[in-house]
Amino acid sequence: MKIAVTVKETREQVDEWRRQGLSVGLVPTMGYLHEGHKSLITRAVSENDRVVVSVFVNPMQFGPSEDLESYPRDMDRDAALCEEAGAALIFHPEPSEMYHNGFSSYVDMDTLTGGLCGKSRPVHFRGVCTVVAKLFNIVVPDRAYFGQKDAQQLAVIRHMADDLSYGIEIKGCPIVREADGLARSSRNTYLGKEERQAALVLNKALSEGKKLIESGERDAVKIKDTVTGIINSEPMARIDYVEAVNWDSLEPVTDINGPVLVAVAVFIGKTRLIDNFIALED
Ligand code: PAF
Repeated sequence: MKIAVTVKETREQVDEWRRQGLSVGLVPTMGYLHEGHKSLITRAVSENDRVVVSVFVNPMQFGPSEDLESYPRDMDRDAALCEEAGAALIFHPEPSEMYHNGFSSYVDMDTLTGGLCGKSRPVHFRGVCTVVAKLFNIVVPDRAYFGQKDAQQLAVIRHMADDLSYGIEIKGCPIVREADGLARSSRNTYLGKEERQAALVLNKALSEGKKLIESGERDAVKIKDTVTGIINSEPMARIDYVEAVNWDSLEPVTDINGPVLVAVAVFIGKTRLIDNFIALED
């Protein structure tokens, strides 16, 4: 497995694979990789001849008061995990390699990005779309892999790939959880022992919401009220949002009569965690 730090080296390697007629999968990440990322890489390895994992903490997707500086980083551990999962190349650029002096072109989206996480993170999706568009242009993969834990991001990237005619298959992959149900996230590392325990309330609340839909409840307000009530019963939790939206348009729904995304963002202490489920998908 190689580690490339420049766009040029990455392009040269991918071009070489292309000359050999090999297919290429891309797994974009911000590093500090966990089992969730590993499942994306493993799936990519099973569906492509060569897999590129990008490891880049993208400054453009963090707001001014967010955790860019403290975001966890451990390149040695990441490299070992990628190698074990069968990746062929890590692209690990410095911010200056991705955003040269005078950088001023962005990819933005008028739909899908205003609600859910976009509401409290107004610059986030412009940063995500811009960096992912750059990664797509650098690697030109056949397929790219994103986790469903960032469900809004997955919907946004699918829409962007379609709008901008990338011709890349966007693969959404299931949420990977710890044994006790906490969704895997690089940010879980911020949680103290009691906070880690309190964070279980996200999955507990969503599981109850999911059960209600599975047993036939179609009133989105009742689902949201149940989820909200359970989260509010945890004194360390502070809700950012609890939403039920159409899993295509991401518009809020009142009656659930098709694929629905029920998503939450909750502060446990200072740490903002997200989690979700999708129901009634074909
Ligand atoms: O999901 C992430 O880790 C990031 O948002 C992504 C897609 C790698 C873009 O920086």
